[in-house]
Amino acid sequence: MKILVVGGGGREHAIICKLRENKEVETVYALPGNGGMADVAICEPIAADDVENIVRFAKEKQVDYVVVAPDDPLVKGCVDALEAEGFNCFGPRANAAIIEGSKIFSKNLMKKYGIPTAAYEVFTDAEEALLYLEKSSYPTVIKADGLALGKGAVIVNSLEEARETVKSMMLDKQFGESGSRIVVEEFMEGPEVSVLAFTDGKTIKPMVSSMDHKRAHDNDEGLNTGGMGTVAPNPYYTESVAQECMEKIFLPTIRAMEKEGRLFQGCLFFGLMITKDGPKVIEYNCRFGDPETQVVLPLLKSDLLTIMQATKAGTLDQVEVEFEDKNACCVIVASDGYPLSYEKGYEITIPDEVKPNVYVAGAKLVNGKLVNNGGRVLGVVGKGDTLKEAIDTAYAMTHQVHFRNAYYRRDIGKRALQAGGEN
Ligand code: AMP
Ligand code: GLY
Repeated sequence: MKILVVGGGGREHAIICKLRENKEVETVYALPGNGGMADVAICEPIAADDVENIVRFAKEKQVDYVVVAPDDPLVKGCVDALEAEGFNCFGPRANAAIIEGSKIFSKNLMKKYGIPTAAYEVFTDAEEALLYLEKSSYPTVIKADGLALGKGAVIVNSLEEARETVKSMMLDKQFGESGSRIVVEEFMEGPEVSVLAFTDGKTIKPMVSSMDHKRAHDNDEGLNTGGMGTVAPNPYYTESVAQECMEKIFLPTIRAMEKEGRLFQGCLFFGLMITKDGPKVIEYNCRFGDPETQVVLPLLKSDLLTIMQATKAGTLDQVEVEFEDKNACCVIVASDGYPLSYEKGYEITIPDEVKPNVYVAGAKLVNGKLVNNGGRVLGVVGKGDTLKEAIDTAYAMTHQVHFRNAYYRRDIGKRALQAGGEN
């Protein structure tokens, strides 16, 4: 089988490695992929959101299956375009991907169907937003409606900060048209949990839970990033929380989407906050999370391709989705200075025995040598019977990965260890 994976980060690298465990998979193409996955995929420089050229490439190579991993192409209708040409795909169609593509859509959906989330107001006019914010209590949260590279949610601590945020989103168009409409949302408190779930639109099978570490520096200090590390499972996601999420959030969400004529088939990502009033939705993503995928998929025992195919066939109730009863930890190694400015082009060395546990994101091959080429460069994943063992294994390998300006947090999993009572 020839499989095409759209995307080029650590998440896609993890997806490809898992897909390759299926012996039917012979060739994998990645668009654009990156130099760090050259041993598992043929990478071609077509951008992940260049739908027209993705379809052209799929036709040219006569691929048997396409996995569309990132949000941009999903929201733009990449799956619809591929299906129109007869390709089998993993990922939701555009009318369902809107659950991530528009915060206003997802907030209105949750309100209409009684799914727990933060209270909110929608604004299309900056003046009106400012009048409302003058009467708000702080902190409060301002979100751009559309996709904004994960930077579209801002927690503001004062009216002054709120004014600046409204100005940059709505008037200065920091995120382009994504910020022309905004959501102002109640600030919630509690630990966060990420849950990825396979769904065919009727059946939903959650994967092992995980915890992201979004801030750049230890002790959750510094700027927000695309994610500096993850652990799985998340100790805050207890059996009873899981049950409550299934009843009040997961099933109601896929049923709501079906009722709206927007059957969601693919991976639905629930960003949850466990508040004192129970679990609430912070956000939905229409795809696998990054770097959540790098800890979740290594624990998957069942065949990924079979599960993916079942999400479109509507047969997810008949396939097994099982996870190892183990823990995993992913440490992201970034270029020092990320998420602001950083230097690129330094050679990366990874010992051969560590390589199978590394998922590469921001790197490219130059004259046969792998060099850093982005903010988040790679993720190193350790597994263990306990969380502590997983963390120690991940760090022991991380210490063996080198490039000149490598930077990583030293405390990935620390909070989870404390919460889980392991330490
Ligand atoms: P989002 O882009 O919606 O995932 O938000 C990014 C991050 O902002 C989340 O992971 C939370 O840490 C934080 N956040 C978003 N919405 C809220 C909220 N209503 N209350 C508190 N924190 C929030
Ligand atoms: N880790 C969160 C995301 O993928 O958006």
